[in-house]
Amino acid sequence: MNIQQVLTQRFTQALADMDITDAPVPLSRSTRPEFGEYQFNGAMALAKRLKQKPRDIAEKILAHVKLDDIASKLELAGPGFINIHLNDSFLADWAQKALADEKLGVDSPKPDRIVVDLSSPNLAKEMHVGHLRSTIIGDATAKVLEYLGHTVIRQNHMGDWGTQFGMLLAHLSDKLASSEVAETALSDLEDFYREAKVRFDNEEGFADRAREHVVKLQSGDEQCLALWQQFIDISIKHSEEVYEKLNVSLTREDIMGESAYNHDLHNVIDELTKQNVAVSDQGAKVVFIEEMKDKEGKPAVYIVQKSGGGFLYSTTDLAAIRYRTNTLKADRTLIFTDARQALHFKQTEIVARKAGFLPPALTYEHCPFGMMLGKDGKPFKTRSGDTIKLSDLLDEAIERAQALIAKRENNLSEAEQLEVAKVVGIGAVKYADLSKNRTTDYIFDWDTMLSFEGNTAPYLQYAYTRIRSIFRKADVDMGKVSGKITIESKTEHELTTKLIQFEEVLSAVGKEATPHLLCTYLYDVASAFMRFYEANPILKSDVDATTRESRLSQAALTARTLKTGLEILGISTLEAM
Ligand code: ARG
Repeated sequence: MNIQQVLTQRFTQALADMDITDAPVPLSRSTRPEFGEYQFNGAMALAKRLKQKPRDIAEKILAHVKLDDIASKLELAGPGFINIHLNDSFLADWAQKALADEKLGVDSPKPDRIVVDLSSPNLAKEMHVGHLRSTIIGDATAKVLEYLGHTVIRQNHMGDWGTQFGMLLAHLSDKLASSEVAETALSDLEDFYREAKVRFDNEEGFADRAREHVVKLQSGDEQCLALWQQFIDISIKHSEEVYEKLNVSLTREDIMGESAYNHDLHNVIDELTKQNVAVSDQGAKVVFIEEMKDKEGKPAVYIVQKSGGGFLYSTTDLAAIRYRTNTLKADRTLIFTDARQALHFKQTEIVARKAGFLPPALTYEHCPFGMMLGKDGKPFKTRSGDTIKLSDLLDEAIERAQALIAKRENNLSEAEQLEVAKVVGIGAVKYADLSKNRTTDYIFDWDTMLSFEGNTAPYLQYAYTRIRSIFRKADVDMGKVSGKITIESKTEHELTTKLIQFEEVLSAVGKEATPHLLCTYLYDVASAFMRFYEANPILKSDVDATTRESRLSQAALTARTLKTGLEILGISTLEAM
């Protein structure tokens, strides 16, 4: 249970004592310390119901609520808010419990089975920056949910099927016929795709052969499938290299590409037709979505089968929903793609619910994200205007970090510097992305993300190593620290308040799939620690033993919170840098 929940219980009880039931109990974390740490703002909503002034209601609640053990001060504010100032011994107790707990005081709720649809690159091409966000925002959210005790089922819905493969397979089959090996032919997927496209557009007869390949592939022709398999295997290997560089926990078992649903696509259409959800329209099968009408009152048209019989992205997504409901037995689905697909998922959900593929209790949450922009505010591209390969971008991050680290004072060997550069460079790219509210576009800027100041990965990684060095100097094993925490100063009050809100923040991230909240939180923790440490020395000789113990405990809890938080975001830490 977290503090917000404890407070909610107390207010619910107070309301019950006043014979008020079924009222919402809104409690928020306050943003300004002078207003306390939490704020109850339910009096306004009650005013209407009770036909009383909100301030009068708040006053009565104040008289009923029992918070002596939690709050040092409660105050009525504004039109009827109640500001709650937590008391120091309560904070110290919670912090002490968190310190003694392997999971830093984070309880497991009733576990849900949560499908996280993430990364999902298209295998016809090399992974480019567009899939950075779906990979790392999805991964961080999955890790948060796991830390909270849920069962997470990752689904990498790779684009491994469809018409563009006809062109690629025709090209590959020619290359192999001239005894080239698949690995070499496909060593650069981007080049390969470009070559195939040039032939498709210019070479007589090639387009027809490409189409033949599609038909053969979709009808299950063995030779064609074998060729396709070679292509897919190599392309998956490319993505795996990127996952490894990114330190993202995706494996082969998580891959459930579009092709995996082929066998069910006919059933999907049959079922939709039988239920009259889909109807024939000019040779195609479509669903008219009455819930979404245009200006002239015409319903949106959602195609599930093309007039030639071909299936679409939408058909596959409907089959995926059936699989996730019936086989994976999911309670919740989260899907990470860019915002341009919002309409597709909205319509897919409506159709799936109509057809009963998606039971009412199972959620279908599209978690959209904005684009990565260059410093000029335009979509992020190479100088020559090409899309940037993710793999190249990550190599550049490491190189840039290496140059930076070489310039900083350190006594690391060259090999050690490279290790640090990997952790800092990759961490910087990931953190820059994760720390922005995902729904907006963001500017990709090397200088800001690699800075050791501000809300960046290097700043947090450095804050962590600084605390580690305190323990090295004190010659104390951080993992074993358990000294009694007492709070004696404002900076300690502020730091422990932050530290005990870890679970609250994780829950919020898990609910909304918003890892940036965790980033902001970790930045606040690190900053609060810096202020604490400046005002409360630990290693100085005039610090008495009890005080030193208390401060070491607070430092240890800070370091563990930072490390765990970064780990959950998929970002590594170092002992020294
Ligand atoms: N491969 C798709 C793309 O790159 C994303 C797939 C997302 N997941 C899904 N179930 N449709 O745009």
